[in-house]
Amino acid sequence: MKALNSMKLEIESRSVNEAFARAAVAAFAAQADPTVEEISDIKTAVSEAVTNCIVHAYPDYVGKIYIWAGIFDNGIFRVKIKDKGCGIEDVDKAMVPLFTTLGGERAGLGFAVMESFCDRIKVRSKPNKGTVVTLEKALCGRSGADERN
Ligand SMILES: Nc1ncnc2c1ncn2[C@@H]1O[C@H](COP(=O)(O)OP(=O)(O)O)[C@@H](O)[C@H]1O
Ligand SMILES: [Mg+2]
Repeated sequence: MKALNSMKLEIESRSVNEAFARAAVAAFAAQADPTVEEISDIKTAVSEAVTNCIVHAYPDYVGKIYIWAGIFDNGIFRVKIKDKGCGIEDVDKAMVPLFTTLGGERAGLGFAVMESFCDRIKVRSKPNKGTVVTLEKALCGRSGADERN
């Protein structure tokens, strides 16, 4: 299905850009008339995915993070966060809550947070090629509520 509207963003994997990426995606999603809570959920999930690119995909150098976001019919919002970094050996294992390869520094809850704040998550990854995380959320939004008033 083709998005009704979409945007692309390419940023460097610097930690200062995490707040920018999360705000940019939220600003784009705003046109779908989400609730404050839905926007907050999107920000939280995007923040986790972008942080993973910064700390895991490119652990000791600055690489590129590619973000695509699209709004579909019925208020479906989709965002893809892609890197060309180190990749994930075993995706199923990486997604288990509390699993982390940076013990002591990280809680291992990033994927669990993305899962709980979104309706769908898909992770595709190849070692030494990179990772694509696709997040999807249905925005029930304010417009539906307004119609009822
Ligand atoms: N973009 C990525 N590139 C490489 N590895 C990743 C990426 N995202 C996640 N991972 C791997 O998956 C593990 C789990 O991620 P996450 O649930 O966010 O926990 P945490 O970031 O706290 O370790 C990470 O420890 C890392 O090994
Ligand atoms: Mg993480």
